[in-house]
Amino acid sequence: MSDSRQLAFHEVVRRRRSVRKFEPGKTVSREVLAGIVDCGRWAPSGANVQCFDFIVVEDAAMREAVTGVFMRQAQRLVDHARGFPAVKKSYLANTVAIIIVLGDPRWKVCFPQSTTDEYNAEYQDNNEAIFLCSLGAAIQNIQLGVTAEGLTSAWLSGGGEDQTNAELAELLGYPSWMKAYGTIPIGYPQATQHRRYRRPLDQCLHWNSYQPTQYRTHQQLDFYESTLRPFAMYRDAEDINDWPDKQTRLGDWQRAFTTSEANPEGQLQAEEDFSKPRVTGRSTRRRQ
Ligand SMILES: Cc1cc2nc3c(=O)[nH]c(=O)nc-3n(C[C@H](O)[C@H](O)[C@H](O)COP(=O)(O)O)c2cc1C
Repeated sequence: MSDSRQLAFHEVVRRRRSVRKFEPGKTVSREVLAGIVDCGRWAPSGANVQCFDFIVVEDAAMREAVTGVFMRQAQRLVDHARGFPAVKKSYLANTVAIIIVLGDPRWKVCFPQSTTDEYNAEYQDNNEAIFLCSLGAAIQNIQLGVTAEGLTSAWLSGGGEDQTNAELAELLGYPSWMKAYGTIPIGYPQATQHRRYRRPLDQCLHWNSYQPTQYRTHQQLDFYESTLRPFAMYRDAEDINDWPDKQTRLGDWQRAFTTSEANPEGQLQAEEDFSKPRVTGRSTRRRQ
């Protein structure tokens, strides 16, 4: 592969962005949309089961109906997952198409199955991971295909919530035991958005073995969840050092979020119960 082609690939990877505001009144051809879905088709999958199907919703009335499903989904988030920085989903109405990536769970049987009770747990959990990762790879390939076409998209996971999936299954006619793991609204961006917060490379890249000084502490995670998350999710900046209000937003956490030494002491911590948020901060007061 030539250098220029490699550069083009890296450019696509960096430019893929979750955009939640599209220009109204635009269209794209079926040929372009089929080419984008073809990128999903070429994704890797465990045991090559290709446990995905792709529904391209391009018809205006159907897009409106899907938008309605996600407006209700977003309202449920506001009502029942208070504190999560969700945005209104009315922007889906301005898409050129919405691609729904369905996961077909029957194919999990093709992943390693234990032949003794003792090994049930060993394989069961990992089979779920293989299934979900296969779907993630397909969704990601589609987002990259969208970017390569000069369009933009988002990755909505709400279709995987039971009530939303039931409504989508009814509307789109697929069996309700399949699930919409990824919903990808596609359109022309209303404003350019190329950057987004990313951890510095030397914080997440470990050479040869895990570096404890790069470890993110439980408290750092608590701070992200309770305080930093909405800004890290939506701001148009890769490096937090570029935030004009960095001092106010980060307080004592500047080093942890902007350098390679998130944990200068190099102390690792034991596992705790991570199933629920552990603290309430400036951004999550609403959930109380
Ligand atoms: C598994 C997964 C689920 C996501 N679910 C949603 C979602 O429901 N709604 C949404 O607006 N964005 C969703 N996103 C997009 C993330 O918020 C986004 O990727 C992240 O904030 C980084 O921004 P970027 O994609 O622009 O780099 C999801 C991303 C992934 C990988």
